[in-house]
Amino acid sequence: MRILLLGPPGGGKGTQSKLLVEKLNIPQISTGDILREHVKKQTDLGKKASNFMEKGELVPDKLILQMMGKRLLENDCLKGYILDGFPRTIPQAIGLDDLLIDLNQKLNKVIVLEVRDNDIVERMGGRRVHLASGRVYHIKFNPPKIEGMDDITKEKLVIRKDDQKDTVLKRLDIYHSTTKPLIDFYSKRNIVSNIDGSKDINAINENIIRNLTNV
Ligand code: AP5
Repeated sequence: MRILLLGPPGGGKGTQSKLLVEKLNIPQISTGDILREHVKKQTDLGKKASNFMEKGELVPDKLILQMMGKRLLENDCLKGYILDGFPRTIPQAIGLDDLLIDLNQKLNKVIVLEVRDNDIVERMGGRRVHLASGRVYHIKFNPPKIEGMDDITKEKLVIRKDDQKDTVLKRLDIYHSTTKPLIDFYSKRNIVSNIDGSKDINAINENIIRNLTNV
């Protein structure tokens, strides 16, 4: 099964993807996580992307499509995948269509997580992440077992640089102007399910799973 999780920054895409990985046994492909890994390793792509990411702007489509063209060829993608954070522009969605034609695959479902902007700002203020694994916590809504530490590795959790309030507001603007039009783009294919992303994490997950049956 090939699923796309669409939603605002901080809308819970990463949180829900991690739960789906466990239940569906298919990989999460998060463009944000892949890019952060490139930035950490200071690769050519990482050097080009870091400036855009810190400012809360989108990395150019061409770079993202090159990166995803390689990622979707990897063996773990043969049984399906969860796309988290890609595509997020119309040119990226058209590029994904081209990649899927080459791979003789199709997207089965687009899950749209709906969360109000005010809730997003609160969520981002309390987010803590384990950068190496992409595991995500919230100091109030989804706290780690030991404060400030990743549950599995016990390594230190950090605040993402792009979680500053001004940057979050800019990312939200870009979501509304540039990414939200993808909902119409995919609605024409009758593969979109809108999910209330303001509920608690497990309730949202159950709702997503319900929407994936019969796909
Ligand atoms: P990326 O890492 O993809 O960021 P994003 O899309 O802005 O999404 P986030 O990771 O911030 O949030 P999320 O929806 O995963 O929410 P989460 O589960 O963490 O991208 C970062 C940057 O990389 C972009 O700005 C851009 O520069 C670049 N980039 C990436 N992809 C790109 C692309 N395709 N094209 C161009 N550029 C690209 O949850 C957030 C918080 O809320 C957490 O603390 C969590 O614990 C909490 N939470 C989750 N669910 C709930 C709930 N139901 N109730 C209460 N709290 C909750």
